[in-house]
Amino acid sequence: MTTLRFPDGFLWGAATAAHQIEGNNVNSNWWEMEHRPGTHVVEPSGDAADGYHRFAEDIRRLAELGMNSYRFSVEWARIEPERGFVSRAELAHYRRMIDVCRDSGVEPIVTLMHFTVPRWFDRDGFWRASDAPDLFARYTEQVLGILEDVRYVCTINEPNIAAMLAGGEKAENLVAHGLAHPDLHVADQLLASHRRSREVLSGHDDILSGWTIATQAFHATEEEGSEQALHEYGYPRDFWYLENAAGDDFLGVQAYTRTFIGPDGPLPVAEDVETTLTGWEFFPPAAELGLRSAWELSGGVPLMVTENGIATGDDTRRIAYTQGALEGVHRAIADGIDVRGYQYWSLLDNYEWASGYRPTFGLIGWDPDTFERRVKPSARWLGEVARDNALTV
Ligand code: NOJ
Repeated sequence: MTTLRFPDGFLWGAATAAHQIEGNNVNSNWWEMEHRPGTHVVEPSGDAADGYHRFAEDIRRLAELGMNSYRFSVEWARIEPERGFVSRAELAHYRRMIDVCRDSGVEPIVTLMHFTVPRWFDRDGFWRASDAPDLFARYTEQVLGILEDVRYVCTINEPNIAAMLAGGEKAENLVAHGLAHPDLHVADQLLASHRRSREVLSGHDDILSGWTIATQAFHATEEEGSEQALHEYGYPRDFWYLENAAGDDFLGVQAYTRTFIGPDGPLPVAEDVETTLTGWEFFPPAAELGLRSAWELSGGVPLMVTENGIATGDDTRRIAYTQGALEGVHRAIADGIDVRGYQYWSLLDNYEWASGYRPTFGLIGWDPDTFERRVKPSARWLGEVARDNALTV
């Protein structure tokens, strides 16, 4: 047996996003879409995990398990439900979340925008509107008021997926992987919004800000033309965003699986491989490969794994996946890559967008009637790794 030690101060935690756990996010564009007939959304989010009311219990449990950080998002649609109206009560709500983190010895990692936007923002032109970066900067300014002791702030979650969803594919098709054809105008607008938001956040010296990118481990097949296709597909999908993190304070790496690329582009998952409840290949090295390409393309920006995990009903596979992923994270660190932390996706089983509640990513499950939490063995396992700051292999 070998013990793989992680750097002192490594941030061990789990991630969530407001819309996926809070419930009743009625002023958001997703809520509206979930209730529109004829979309691909399999079920509406409803009460979700009632995270809006149960956050204190969830954060304390994460701390008791042994973790020392928690990535969560604040919901723009709650904070600014109508254009220009900022709810002080909702800001106070999110401030209480930060307070519970602090009281529990948990480092809060706050995401400002995790896919959902207020309905009015959608109606007024979405990210395509010329004033979208201003509006996002104004929202950032409001949130900044509750971030005085927060260190890590993620501006925009997976802008690369957001731009793809805007690009011809319907937003309902949010399956997060395999979509192509990003809307390049939206991509530019998201980058401009990210930069404006970072400028605002730089008003607090202690804040480290960056965005989080959905990385894919791409593998070109042996066929002629595959390498070229990999570049053509991967550049607008991922690489451009990683390059544009150069100069940021940190970069969030999100990684789940790999994709093979043939001469005509991405290939479906092979039939003989193990897949998870999202249909993705069970591929633990994804995190390591994401870190390596993020490090190279960003020119050495400090990294954090802001999401990594699998959807499975078999918790032993979750542990096996995470163990494999962490071995890879450790290899990346051993090679000199500056990795600040690892956030498992997700703390709770949650609303997986268009796929609804079926893909269970959580370390913790819950009863659909009572919302009572059920801690899975994987949560205890990861908590122990976190406590030891080391992995036994
Ligand atoms: C990416 C997204 O940020 C998150 O919202 C989603 O649930 C997971 N990855 C899994 O698809």
